[in-house]
Amino acid sequence: TDKYAVLGNPISHSKSPLIHRMFAEQTGQDISYEAIEAPLDGFAAKIEELRAKGYKGCNVTVPFKVEAFNLANQLSQKSLEAEAVNTLKFEGDAIIGDNTDGAGLVRDIEQNLGIPLKGKRILLIGAGGAAQGVLHPILATEPKQLVISNRTPDKALALKKSVKNDVVSVEAVGFGELDNAQFDVIINATSAGLTDSEIPIPSTIFAPGALAYDMMYGRETPFMAFARQHGARVADGLGMLVEQAAEAFCLWRRVRPETKPVRDRLRLS
Ligand code: ATR
Repeated sequence: TDKYAVLGNPISHSKSPLIHRMFAEQTGQDISYEAIEAPLDGFAAKIEELRAKGYKGCNVTVPFKVEAFNLANQLSQKSLEAEAVNTLKFEGDAIIGDNTDGAGLVRDIEQNLGIPLKGKRILLIGAGGAAQGVLHPILATEPKQLVISNRTPDKALALKKSVKNDVVSVEAVGFGELDNAQFDVIINATSAGLTDSEIPIPSTIFAPGALAYDMMYGRETPFMAFARQHGARVADGLGMLVEQAAEAFCLWRRVRPETKPVRDRLRLS
């Protein structure tokens, strides 16, 4: 049995063990997967302990993704773009860091929800770690336009400046500058939902048939309620959670699990 885990703090509510156990059962892979709470000042020590015990890899969640990025000694292109790591693979002395969050989001929107992002007008709300984690994979789909909007506009501007891609038009604006704009896909990458806070965006931003996607899951956020009221199709981040897990599973096991049965099961529980 190859051992894997997810490390975070807090971690008790993580759905990752259930997801990976379902993947393992479905694909016949002999693995174990548990949730481990690392002390806030003890992430590196916990990783060393897991490697010493023969673990093959782990997922990393809040608040350790940047620490994992700094700790890895081999980094994928995706993790370099995100400047954060959510998946580690241990191979001898190698600590391989990857980031599957953006691929998970894009896959959920394009494959599961059936909305190709190429040629679309996209609004990305937020400019923290979560937004940075998905920015480049979104750009790689070649949308027509990407606007990054954040409560603190300077942070949106900094994120825009990190973009080398000159094929896609990228703009950074504050919430007050969205009055005359419409988008096909609006992605909420802020943590506003955690505190049930509304985001002051105009109700006119939803183009006919728009998708409003909240990367948060587990409840209807004020953003989702607002989007629904103004005619948008609404999705939460549960599909992204399952897809980023599938990408990690694939990296570790070289087998791609089917995500639909897992999403269906999680929606029921
Ligand atoms: P994460 O890793 O979740 O992205 P973060 O790096 O702390 O966490 O970023 C939080 C994001 O949510 C930021 O974009 C933040 O806006 P600011 O940069 O202006 O702080 C955004 N955010 C948090 N609470 C918010 C709220 N109540 N309204 C609007 N944006 C909010």
